[in-house]
Amino acid sequence: MSMAMSEPGPTAATSGLEGVIAATTTLSKVDGTNGRLTYRGYNIYDLAQTTTFEEVAHLLWFGHLPNRKQLTRLMARFAAERSIPNNVMQIIRALPTSTEPMDALRTAVSAWGAGAISGKPTIDQAIALTARFPLFLAAFERTRQGHEPLQPQPKLGLAANFLFLLTGEVPKDEHVKGLNSYLVLLADHGMNASTFTARIVASTESDIVSAVVAAIGALKGPLHGGAPSKVQDMLRAIGTVENAAPWLRAAIARGERLMGFGHRVYKTEDPRSVALREMARVTDPQGFLLARHVEELALELLQQQKPGRRIYTNVEYYFATMMGSLGLSGDLFTPTFAVSRCAGWTAHILEQIHNNRLIRPDAEYTGTAEQRFIPLEKRP
Ligand code: ACO
Repeated sequence: MSMAMSEPGPTAATSGLEGVIAATTTLSKVDGTNGRLTYRGYNIYDLAQTTTFEEVAHLLWFGHLPNRKQLTRLMARFAAERSIPNNVMQIIRALPTSTEPMDALRTAVSAWGAGAISGKPTIDQAIALTARFPLFLAAFERTRQGHEPLQPQPKLGLAANFLFLLTGEVPKDEHVKGLNSYLVLLADHGMNASTFTARIVASTESDIVSAVVAAIGALKGPLHGGAPSKVQDMLRAIGTVENAAPWLRAAIARGERLMGFGHRVYKTEDPRSVALREMARVTDPQGFLLARHVEELALELLQQQKPGRRIYTNVEYYFATMMGSLGLSGDLFTPTFAVSRCAGWTAHILEQIHNNRLIRPDAEYTGTAEQRFIPLEKRP
């Protein structure tokens, strides 16, 4: 009996598992009180300004930033994986043009995994998957626009290749820099909903593709990664600085949630949105003026309506402003988030299986107490 006494007993159900620690991780630290985010101890401001997405992926997968030789090797491994098998391309081409890109990505990843992946998750598989996310997305985008998918450029990195594969033009440096910083900023974020999903699937000893497909499903929802196109819709609907106040007041009065505001963990400014705000100011000065005005007003109105709630702008808000200026259509925003987060998901999957225990929480039963069974013919 003494053994049972030392085991942790069940705790009461927590709404949305808020405040529950579900795993230990050495990947990223989210400090919601002070608005700080680090990957393996490195502040994301430093990483976003100076590193490539590939360097950050190396940091997450291998545990340290690469030296030049290690980076060259990783880039070569990425380049070697940049291809879409014919059967997967056929599936992408067969999708109705009305398919949401997030669904197209989920389908392509799943189809690719069906032939390519088995066994215990490995770093090689993580690289193979992360390298293909931009390809799958760009192939679908080109196809639905009635264009042929393009071949990746061996000399370009992941961010530049993604823009090239979408447009067929070598992208401007400032656009590559903007997208690269975004990919760096979003690569990992503690135990967010999609990462938790990936870790749960990995904990059953399922394969890496199944875990990533499940994570894509979780990211799609507007309360997680599906908000940026809705931010863009909101800014479009507002349209002008003059229209901001009446539009926001009416939305708040209807009890609507303002997209791009609020976060489960950050009770101060999301450090990623601070970094993206600066980028949006440069990449799209015109759009920035309206976005900044709407942000300031929305924060003021939310503060009045929900005093003490500590609602701030989240990462989706300026991402929406910035992505529009890169020429990406609104429904590509969330899958672009997935391109970045694939590095974090796969790093978490590898971390989970390294010291695995099946994730299997309890549920508190609140249904009817035991009832007497009535056979079908006697039920009223
Ligand atoms: N607009 C208006 N009110 C809000 C908003 C918002 N965007 N966000 C939270 N609130 C209010 C809620 O109405 C609630 O008020 P109440 O207690 O008076 O009912 C209070 O703040 C707390 O809200 P919760 O839903 O309990 O907060 P939770 O931690 O579950 O939600 C979430 C976080 C889902 C992100 C929420 O803020 C939201 O819906 N935001 C809009 C969607 C969005 O921007 N999603 C992107 C998230 S960022 C990311 O995942 C990378």
